[in-house]
Amino acid sequence: KRLILVGPPGSGKGTQSPIIKDEYCLCHLATGDMLRAAVAAKTPLGVKAKEAMEKGLLVSDDLVVGIINEALEKPSCQKGFILDGFPRTVVQAEKLDEMLKRRGVKVDKVLNFAIDDEILEERITGRWIHPSSGRSYHTKFAPPKVPGIDDVTGEPLVQRKDDTAAVLKSRLEAFHKQTEPVVIDYYSKKRIVANLHAEKPPPEVTAEVQKVLS
Ligand code: AP5
Ligand code: ZN
Repeated sequence: KRLILVGPPGSGKGTQSPIIKDEYCLCHLATGDMLRAAVAAKTPLGVKAKEAMEKGLLVSDDLVVGIINEALEKPSCQKGFILDGFPRTVVQAEKLDEMLKRRGVKVDKVLNFAIDDEILEERITGRWIHPSSGRSYHTKFAPPKVPGIDDVTGEPLVQRKDDTAAVLKSRLEAFHKQTEPVVIDYYSKKRIVANLHAEKPPPEVTAEVQKVLS
């Protein structure tokens, strides 16, 4: 399967991805995770992306298109993929179409994580992540066994720099102005959008995803 996950910050894209990925043997390509790794490693890409990310603005199309184009070559992506947080503009969607056309494949479904903005601040400000694996927790909704510690590795959890109420405002604005109207419309025309009730608890969202994909 070849899937795109669209939704505002905190809507559950990163929470559902590992579950879908394991069930269908897909690779999980999250542009946000890849960019954060580049920022942490201070690569040329990371240096260019850092400022926009900290402000909650979109990184330039060229940068994200480049990382996706490269990542799609990975052997683990050949059976199918989950694009989490990409495309976020029409230019990105068009470039993706070109990349997939060259490879002779196309997108099967776009999962739209529909949710009201009001719920998102609590989700975002309570999130803790394990940077090297991408696992995420929530102090209230998905607490780790030991506070501040990853269940699997015992390593410390951290909070994302952009997970503040103030930066969330810009991220939501970017989503509602630059992504939601155009990207959903782009794929609605292709009749492949499935709307999810992303405000429900995680297992119920998983069940909706499974129903759409079955
Ligand atoms: P990115 O990393 O993609 O961030 P985002 O889109 O803001 O999305 P989040 O990761 O915050 O939300 P999520 O839906 O994954 O939520 P999660 O499942 O973790 O992008 C970051 C930045 O990178 C952007 O601002 C931009 O600068 C740049 N960027 C990335 N891609 C780009 C692109 N294509 N073009 C340009 N720039 C780009 O859940 C959140 C919390 O809620 C967790 O704690 C979780 O445990 C909890 N939770 C999850 N589901 C539920 C539920 N159902 N009920 C209760 N709690 C839940
Ligand atoms: Zn995410």
